[in-house]
Amino acid sequence: MRLFTSAALGVSLLALASASATAATPPISLSIDAGKPGATIDRHIFGQFAEHLGHGVYGGVWVGKDSSIPNTRGIRNDVVAALKAIKVPDVRWPGGCYADSYHWRDGVGPDRKTRVNTAWGNVVDPNTFGTDEYMDFINQIGSEAYVSLNIGSGTVGEAQDWMEYMTADQPTTLQQERAKNGHPAPYNVPFMGIGNESWDCGGLMTPDEYTAELRRYARFVGSYNPKEPTMKIAVGPGTDDTTWTDAVMKTWKERRGWSFDFQGLSLHSYTVYDGWPPHMPSTDFDKTAYAHVLKETLKMGPLIDKQSAVMDKYDPDKKVALVVDEWGAWLAPTPGSNPAFLMQQNTQRDAVLAALNLNIFARHADRVRMANIAQMVNVLQAMILTDGPKMVLTPTYHVFKMYVPFQDATIIPVTYDAGTYTQGDTTLPRLDAIAAKGKDGKIWLSLTNLDPDQPLEVDAAALGFKASAATGQTLTAPKVDSLNDFDHPDTVTPKPISGKLKNGAIVLTLPPASVTVVSLEP
Ligand code: AHR
Repeated sequence: MRLFTSAALGVSLLALASASATAATPPISLSIDAGKPGATIDRHIFGQFAEHLGHGVYGGVWVGKDSSIPNTRGIRNDVVAALKAIKVPDVRWPGGCYADSYHWRDGVGPDRKTRVNTAWGNVVDPNTFGTDEYMDFINQIGSEAYVSLNIGSGTVGEAQDWMEYMTADQPTTLQQERAKNGHPAPYNVPFMGIGNESWDCGGLMTPDEYTAELRRYARFVGSYNPKEPTMKIAVGPGTDDTTWTDAVMKTWKERRGWSFDFQGLSLHSYTVYDGWPPHMPSTDFDKTAYAHVLKETLKMGPLIDKQSAVMDKYDPDKKVALVVDEWGAWLAPTPGSNPAFLMQQNTQRDAVLAALNLNIFARHADRVRMANIAQMVNVLQAMILTDGPKMVLTPTYHVFKMYVPFQDATIIPVTYDAGTYTQGDTTLPRLDAIAAKGKDGKIWLSLTNLDPDQPLEVDAAALGFKASAATGQTLTAPKVDSLNDFDHPDTVTPKPISGKLKNGAIVLTLPPASVTVVSLEP
């Protein structure tokens, strides 16, 4: 039984099996209590991540001003239009592991330095997409900046200069350099990561080594514009071991006066089934592989619980946000692609996986206030795939679009017995659900039917809310490994779904292996 008690909305909603339903499995009852509103689901849990890795930036976002691919100042118009529609709250850039060898001066002004991208495939990075292009890009999609500082091979002074270049609102030398490059007004940098995976690619530091760096960067690097402060995010754990979390949170607790401060702790957790290196194919898999990967991804919930418990020890008021700024399925590289480019296809399984993780973040909304799926375009669990002028939207993209009403919504408790379905050696819940009151005042439900074989009849009750219908969209597919490609871009796209009031209840039937988002209509 999954119990969520945060709000007493006094709503009673009953969804019964529809007359046309043919499910062989029993209906599931949901009870929604909107009278005790819970935490806000921060829109920043729907953040994205764009690293200089493979075609994540070059080709995927940046094609250059002279490209025959339609672009605005070098940034592809089709990708911008698609990203605008999912209301991307922030884009983490330039890495990832790449960030700890990135020198911002290589990518500003008229003379760009070409460099070898030693983090990802030793290919040449032309640095034609630098700070000003990144800011242009996030401005075009209506998003916000989340930059990762280079603490591995950079210096505190270099990071200070970068932040001053971006944010200074007074006539300093770096502000004037920015103005000369065409940008007199300060940029806003609301989020700043102090390193990336410093326990691994970011410098293989011990907790003591990292916290020593953290103190200096958190003290001396930040926004130069008092009107637009920056949230500073420390490197956090990448496993369920809590040693690192303990050391960083202890450091936070010991801060005093104006010594230093930070407001976020990062967590990286990929869904990698059956050990490293990732070898689960992203296409042509069966229901057993589907179940294995989903079972793995559900470990995100206990992982957040375990790391949050350590944070609670030092920070019971939850001042420090847990920022899951790398998450998603990490599968085998697309056959024939450069393995360092981390290209993989994206299927209905990824859609279900995305919904399960977003639901976990929403349930932990009091602590998890930011997350960034890895990655936005052409890399790992991407929203968008491109190939030259071609572009296709993935099933994961459609989930992010369907979830837009949950951005800054208020979580509402929903109680249900999820039941189970079994595939070989793997048993999973049949249903995963969240409810929230949107900024539009509507009650929104997300209902994921994990079972790939059976439709799921939802039999729900919500007291105190007069619902006469439920309308929305369902993302379903012929098979768990169905996907969209350049020749078949609409194999997996959301379809309308509605539930009607019958004998005082709303009736909904969820297709197998589907993600459904509906609002209740009074
Ligand atoms: O997202 C790919 C890589 O995964 C990132 O660069 C790194 O931070 C993580 O290990």
